[in-house]
Amino acid sequence: MRIVVVGGTGLIGSQVVALLRDNGHEAVAATPSTGVDAVTGQGLAQALKGADVVVDVSNSPSFETEAALDFFTRSAQNLFEAEKEAGVRHHVTLSIVGVDQVPDYGYYQAKVAQEDAVRDSGVPYSIVRATQFFEFIAPVMDMSTQGAEVHLPSLRLRPIASADVAAAVADAAQGEPSNGVRGIAGPEVHRLDRLGEITLAAKPDGRSVVVDEAAGPFGGMPDGVLIGDDTVHTVSTRYEDWLKQN
Ligand SMILES: NC(=O)c1ccc[n+]([C@@H]2O[C@H](COP(=O)([O-])OP(=O)(O)OC[C@H]3O[C@@H](n4cnc5c(N)ncnc54)[C@H](OP(=O)(O)O)[C@@H]3O)[C@@H](O)[C@H]2O)c1
Repeated sequence: MRIVVVGGTGLIGSQVVALLRDNGHEAVAATPSTGVDAVTGQGLAQALKGADVVVDVSNSPSFETEAALDFFTRSAQNLFEAEKEAGVRHHVTLSIVGVDQVPDYGYYQAKVAQEDAVRDSGVPYSIVRATQFFEFIAPVMDMSTQGAEVHLPSLRLRPIASADVAAAVADAAQGEPSNGVRGIAGPEVHRLDRLGEITLAAKPDGRSVVVDEAAGPFGGMPDGVLIGDDTVHTVSTRYEDWLKQN
């Protein structure tokens, strides 16, 4: 199949492209660096010519509410216009577990708008919702560092390796449209402050963790929404094992 991966140079996208190529598909990364801009529509029609499936794993360069909302709504509109023109038969989008349960959180509002556009598009679709990537924990800690203290709230996360997310997205792309949502998560639930301690135990750098419910990108977020429910499919890679290899 010809599978166009919008955001195919990113953390998830580059792994999805590699997995699809390994399975014999013609996987093409469509991003500004390859001449395709989903927000302006530039290069989309050309990239989607002959495409069977489009995978959208792009991300907004800004997490600020208005910028992210503009990114995800404009890119979805352009993508679906081009997909209908090209006769694409399956659209796969990567979203976030619990995204629709946090109405006050700006970036999540933008992802909900993206999901709504997928459902309303008329193109058969599959939505994969993942929990927070292991790779995201260290940047969150860096954003929340004050001197030698890492200020982290105690809400529970159930993080997952990006490789496991990429595998689930690639599986979805090679399967039939579900016209629904599949949630995926890592094997363990940890409080975010504990994830910080586990990270610093594996890679000590002189910092220590302080519980601070208002700090960082997850500050003020209600506990429980990001770990998913019984319907979430869990994978086996543990954070501590992953840290040893990364
Ligand atoms: N972080 C998490 O824990 C988490 C959890 C669940 C779901 N997600 C979702 O996972 C998705 C992928 O995240 P990621 O971390 O893999 O992203 P990433 O590494 O930041 O990659 C973003 C990709 O989007 C591309 N892009 C940026 N602007 C574009 C545009 N105008 N048109 C087309 N492509 C554009 C980038 O291309 P260039 O390289 O050319 O700039 C890059 O390939 C996001 O939608 C995010 O919401 C994230």
